[in-house]
Amino acid sequence: MTKIQKVKCVFFSATGTTKKTVTWIGKTVADQLGLPCQDIDFTLPQNRQEPLVFQPEDLVVFGTPVIAGRVPNVLLKFLDTLQGNGAAAVPVVLFGNRNYDDALMELRDILHNKGFQPMAAAAFVGEHSFSYILAKNRPDDLDFSIATHFGQEVAKKVQGFQNAENYPLIEVEGVPYPYRGYYQPRDRKGNSVDIRKVKPVTSDACVDCKLCAKICPMGSISYENVSEYVGICIKCGACIKQCPQKAKYYTDEGYLYHQHELEEGFTRRAEPELFI
Ligand SMILES: Cc1cc2nc3c(=O)[nH]c(=O)nc-3n(C[C@H](O)[C@H](O)[C@H](O)COP(=O)(O)O)c2cc1C
Ligand code: SF4
Ligand code: SF4
Repeated sequence: MTKIQKVKCVFFSATGTTKKTVTWIGKTVADQLGLPCQDIDFTLPQNRQEPLVFQPEDLVVFGTPVIAGRVPNVLLKFLDTLQGNGAAAVPVVLFGNRNYDDALMELRDILHNKGFQPMAAAAFVGEHSFSYILAKNRPDDLDFSIATHFGQEVAKKVQGFQNAENYPLIEVEGVPYPYRGYYQPRDRKGNSVDIRKVKPVTSDACVDCKLCAKICPMGSISYENVSEYVGICIKCGACIKQCPQKAKYYTDEGYLYHQHELEEGFTRRAEPELFI
């Protein structure tokens, strides 16, 4: 096996929880091994134009949020262009205190199919994109201490395998392919609530700073008129949580019901899960 020479922290992160966790883990591994560490952020559409190509000497900590219990389906086309070339990988998913369902299994499989060697994996918790109270302010100090422990264990595993040909594929929690369907929000009568077409509305508090248009990971907010949408909305929360005026919000009843149901139903503290 080629000796690992660089740690790469690769992530999609609309509200920053995936970024914080992945870079923390990656930095810990790099410090333990005395290696350089590089961040590769593919959140914005302009950063998903070219395929990401890795080397056998890379250890790639690769993170996405969980969307409806799975890897965000809007990223699948881009993820299909990844070139692992034998790099060691640590898939990491961030979930908003409900569950990560089959997302980690799916991310592990995507990376494996694209030529990476997934040798450890983890699911961490981040403040829910839909909420200010669900997993509020997570990852927090406790999460970061678990992330430090995880990074140290990954580094030990790398050292233990320096002379092996391949890392064995890491076993993770979840139903193997074909995965379960996307998690479906339901109303009180058990009917499914379709929030795919829902988009935030914009209030008069907007000062037209254009920040939301710059940070939308789907490039869906019009620069000319920030209250208009030119593409799909994945409800990632970036424009809502980062607007300095708190001018973007949801009015759709189905969405608000789902948000309320999550906030009421998932108050227990979900803990990170590590696979090493
Ligand atoms: C459309 C959508 C669906 C989501 N589905 C789930 C889910 O099934 N389970 C869960 O626990 N969190 C879910 N979340 C919450 C995010 O996974 C979580 O907040 C994550 O920390 C966000 O990562 P980011 O800060 O890097 O954007 C969902 C978020 C969005 C936007
Ligand atoms: S970030 Fe807020 S204030 Fe700035 S343009 Fe968008 S909605 Fe308006
Ligand atoms: S418009 Fe939708 S996809 Fe774009 S930043 Fe806002 S919530 Fe995210």
